[in-house]
Amino acid sequence: MANIVIVGTQWGDEGKGKIVDLLADIADVVVRFQGGNNAGHTMVVNGDQFISHLVPSGILQKKICYIGNGVVVDPKVLIDEMEYLIRRGIDVTPQKLKISALAHIIMPYHGQIDIAREALKGKNKIGTTGRGIGPCYEDKISRQGFRFVELIDSSLFKERLAAIADEKNFYLTKYLASTPVDVQAITDVFGSYAERLAPHVANVSVELYQAISAGKQILFEGAQGTHLDIDHGTYPFVTSSNTVAGNACCGSGIGPKHITGVMGIVKAYTTRVGEGPFPSELFDDIGDRIQQKGAEFGATTGRKRRCGWLDTVVLNNAVRLNGLTSLAITKLDVLGGFDTLNICTGYLYKNTKITDFPPNLKTLSECKPIYETLPGWSEDISRIRCRDDLPRNTRKYLSRIEELTQTPIGIISVGPGRDETIVVQHPFSGA
Ligand code: GDP
Ligand code: IMO
Ligand code: MG
Repeated sequence: MANIVIVGTQWGDEGKGKIVDLLADIADVVVRFQGGNNAGHTMVVNGDQFISHLVPSGILQKKICYIGNGVVVDPKVLIDEMEYLIRRGIDVTPQKLKISALAHIIMPYHGQIDIAREALKGKNKIGTTGRGIGPCYEDKISRQGFRFVELIDSSLFKERLAAIADEKNFYLTKYLASTPVDVQAITDVFGSYAERLAPHVANVSVELYQAISAGKQILFEGAQGTHLDIDHGTYPFVTSSNTVAGNACCGSGIGPKHITGVMGIVKAYTTRVGEGPFPSELFDDIGDRIQQKGAEFGATTGRKRRCGWLDTVVLNNAVRLNGLTSLAITKLDVLGGFDTLNICTGYLYKNTKITDFPPNLKTLSECKPIYETLPGWSEDISRIRCRDDLPRNTRKYLSRIEELTQTPIGIISVGPGRDETIVVQHPFSGA
């Protein structure tokens, strides 16, 4: 029996959705444990593309999917996503999709605050997705949030909303020059969301415990990436949740002893959307080529992703912070056609080599990448299904990543499709 956590090792969009969809075949249950609809996870099955923002990426494999207490849920986005899946023939009945009663709700004013604040910050903006993620987590921590518990109890919902409306309105109108909260309008529309979603509300912690006790295998689906973590990322250019593997436990309500492995998803190069330092970023033709060949546009906001070389200072930070037991290398096909490839193996900071990711953002922004250059390959690798059949230089690139990170590669992804994958060592052992 294995319970595996999947996390992004870089700044998000590493291909977590594809790998979760693939591994969900063997899992019994898939759980999202943090983030919200700032995430955009892409799955491609038989040429059909699906993008999920809130529903766990195990849904296409017909597995029981849980939205854990650590997730922040915009009920309208969730309902729209469920309708979209239903239109595409996917089962999202309450037997298949369950939401923690303790998960927090993104309220309309959270999105308003997120967008208005970013506008006020001007060039100092974070580059958020504008989905109200930060303001919702703020209210959770300051104990002013709404959970599904409150959503499905209409009188409690209205009472609490009325109680916080004055404070929200003061901030919205006086500081952000935005529109005030309309308690009645929100109560009405959220009443309809409550009716639609109530059958899906569950005690996720209890159900996961029962599943584990019955010998079922759980796949935990992380969102964002290690370097967007609220504690360990490039603060303040981060998201507002803990994205590291440890949060799989807090965000779903299970104990650490049940986690048997952590797979880190590694894009074969590096990308980032939004603001913040990124030492191996490329500003030249190579960066543009990677961006175009990799179709690097955000799955949530459609923004162009910034691109750069693979960075093993970043990866080793992720290895340590998440306790990675294996790696999945994605988008390796995108690197075909370059004469040489660079891997960043350290940073030069004031003439000193650094190999630990610096906690100080000013230091990080002054770091210059130290590169190791490897030979490239020109062959199309998208049809290869066995590591040994890859071109020699591709194998060298992979082996070097394993050496530099001291972590074995379990999966190699050579295209967006579920089948465009080389499984070296399946994380659900014995599978
Ligand atoms: P996530 O947020 O980590 O799930 O990643 P996204 O879905 O935001 O971005 C990854 C993008 O790369 C999606 O468009 C995927 O379909 C695509 N993708 C995933 N793996 C591969 C791969 O191995 N090769 C190529 N060419 N595309 C891939
Ligand atoms: P997935 O799960 C890439 C980034 C935003 C911004 C910062 C804060 O698809 O990998 P937020 O709206 O969370 O307050 O924005 O975090 N960001 C992501 N970048 N992939 C994601 O998710 C992201 N979710 C948030 O671009 O820089
Ligand atoms: Mg994404």
